[in-house]
Formats: sequence, C-alpha cells, structure tokens
Amino acid sequence: MNDHPALRPDRIGDLDLANRLAVAPMSRVSAAADGTPTDDMADYYTAFADGGFALVLTEGTYTDTHYSQGYLNQPGIVTAAHEAAWHEIVTRVHARGASMILQLMHAGAISQGNRYRDDTLAPSAVRPLGEKMPEYGGHGPWPTPRAMTGDDIEHALTGFVDAAIRAQRAGFAGVEVHGANGYLVDQFLTDYTNQRYDRYGGMVANRVRLAAEIVSAIRAATGPRFVVGIRLSQGKVNDFTHRWAGGSRDAEIIFAALAEAGATYLHIASEGRDWVETATLDGGVTITGLARKVTGLPVLANGGMHDLTQAASVLEDGHADIVTIGRGALANPDLPRRLAQSLPLAAFDHEMLQPMATLSNARLWRAAGQVPA
Ligand SMILES: Cc1cc2nc3c(=O)[nH]c(=O)nc-3n(C[C@H](O)[C@H](O)[C@H](O)COP(=O)(O)O)c2cc1C
Repeated sequence: MNDHPALRPDRIGDLDLANRLAVAPMSRVSAAADGTPTDDMADYYTAFADGGFALVLTEGTYTDTHYSQGYLNQPGIVTAAHEAAWHEIVTRVHARGASMILQLMHAGAISQGNRYRDDTLAPSAVRPLGEKMPEYGGHGPWPTPRAMTGDDIEHALTGFVDAAIRAQRAGFAGVEVHGANGYLVDQFLTDYTNQRYDRYGGMVANRVRLAAEIVSAIRAATGPRFVVGIRLSQGKVNDFTHRWAGGSRDAEIIFAALAEAGATYLHIASEGRDWVETATLDGGVTITGLARKVTGLPVLANGGMHDLTQAASVLEDGHADIVTIGRGALANPDLPRRLAQSLPLAAFDHEMLQPMATLSNARLWRAAGQVPA
C-alpha cells in the first residue's frame, strides 16, 4: 500500500473523509433540457466514488429560474424534479462510501445559455472580456449585461439560499458557492467588472460582501453542521492571467471575510493553469497556504494535482489539506485506487473535454474495466 499523504484520512467540518482526494467541479452540460440530472450523470458521478475518491464536488449547478443559468443542459437545483434526481445520485455515491457536495453557480454576465432569460445581469454594465466559449455551444462576443439593482441582488442571494436548502434535502453533505472563474460572485469581487458605488463596490472589503452574505445566509438557513464551502480564483474562464491587484493584502481581506461569514472551507481554483503558476503571491507565500493561515479552515488546492509528486508536496508542506483533481479524474475516475496500488495513471485526452462526452466517458470507463458495470 502506497503511503502517499493524499491517501490519509481527513475532515472538513464534521465530514469525515477516507482520503484527501476530491473530484474538482466540472461542467458536463449533460442534464435534460429542463435542468434535471440524468441517469448517465448518475453513472458518471458514481464512477468517481467507485474509483475511491472520498469527495465528489459536482459541476456548477444553477440556483434560480431568473438569471443564474450559464449553459443550456446545465443541471439546476430549483425544481422538485431537480432535487429528486440529485437525491438519486447522492444516494448512489454515498452508498459507495464517498461524500458529495453540490456546487452552486450563478453565471452573471458570462451566461451563454439560459432557458429562462435572453439578457444577462452583472454588478455593472461592463461587457465581459473575450468571447463566448465554443465548447459550451457559444460563439461571438458576450452581450453587455444590465447592472443589478438592490432587488436583483436580493433575488440572486435568495436563489443561493433556496438552492442550498434543496441541496440539503437532497442529501448532499454540503454546498460550494462558486465564487471563482469569472462568474457572478467573482464579477463582484473583481475590480474591473464591479464599478458600483454602493456597499457592494469600491474597496475589496465591499467587493467581497456579496460572497460573504451568501455564505452567511446559507449557513443560517442550513444549520451549523452543513458544509458551506466557497471556491475562489484569481484567473477567469475569460481572463486566465488576472491577479488580485492588492496581492496578499487583498487575499487576507477576502479570506477573513469568508471565514467570518461562516464558511467551512475555502477552495482555491487555478483556472486553466497549474497550481504552481497561480499559487505564488507577493512575499513568497502561496495563496492556499495563506488561506489556511488566515482562517484556520481546511483549504482545497487545485490545478494539475494529477501530478502526484506535486500533490504530495502541497499536502506535506502545509499548503493545503485536500487536493481537487479535474482533468486527471476524467482520465482516471479510479485515480485513488491506482495511487494506492502504485499503478500508473492514464494520460488525459483532450477529447474528454467535450462536455457531451459524459455518457461516452461513463461507458468507456466501464468497458475499460475501470469501474464496475
Ligand atoms: C470540462 C471542465 C469543466 C469545468 N467546469 C467547472 C465548473 O463547473 N465549476 C468550477 O468551479 N470549475 C470548473 N472547471 C475547472 C476545474 O474545476 C479545475 O479548476 C480545472 O480543470 C483545473 O484543474 P485540473 O488541472 O485538475 O484539471 C472545469 C474544468 C473542466 C476541464
């Protein structure tokens, strides 16, 4: 048995984890048109539990029937049918000994498919950088969003809370607020997309307010034991190289506000980049190590962690508590079992990024004998 540190047990809040390997959230745009998760999605998620991951984070799931949806065929958590279908998936994953956390996502200005609305909302009427993502069926520039009113903000916040209550009823161990990668919560956090002059705009302590209010409102609605995590990143799907202007000073303010709001953990994403490339802040500290130091909370590190030597040093050197694996998990749904048996990992194949490959992935894995049929 390999003694890699990722194979040691750990805890997130009251949640016991058999190892420190989690599946990173990955949008697969494979839900039914009305946002209901499908049986194929159940197979897809169950495969990671069969493969030994202690924790499975779901893809970004939309939170209301207004402006939150980001892609067509994205799953939701806003109807009784959504809740029932997620309940099935969670039950299957739990039966195999893994825990599951639902990622709650509001796309804001970078929505490119919303069955409820044609227009978009954001903190300010700033057209997003870049163009829509072809892998999610988009093309051309993003539209300029409408600046949110106080009522719009209240509506979005209520959506997150109602979605978390549904997630709790569906049996999830917790939720993760998607505050990363350029979506709504990150649009508030980011200086150039948030040009507001009210309590949500201006200095970083104001720009993090919406994230903190969401975390604290979910905490109040779901009780002290429910896991309420939040994912953050400097880079964005439409701006990979963005970095927080105030560096470690901004990071400290953001992390402290979220801990104060009642977050159970912080998850730092390396959008499209390796952890090494995105982790280093001024003063030689790592962003994940700083998050641990400032908050004392468990921190999840992400970005190229299928390099298991890197994962070992991130964990051993105190930069994080858990590693989350995206592309490496698509290639190896049984990565923890392979690691335990010191077996080589399968190489990631770019084809696996095709969102609609969910079904074929699950079938391929079964055909390859990586997961039981
Ligand atoms: C197909 C795909 C879909 C993704 N969807 C999401 C998502 O829904 N939510 C999210 O926070 N990150 C999403 N990400 C980012 C991943 O969680 C992760 O940060 C990224 O893949 C880097 O980690 P890796 O090097 O282990 O792949 C996605 C990544 C991929 C490859």
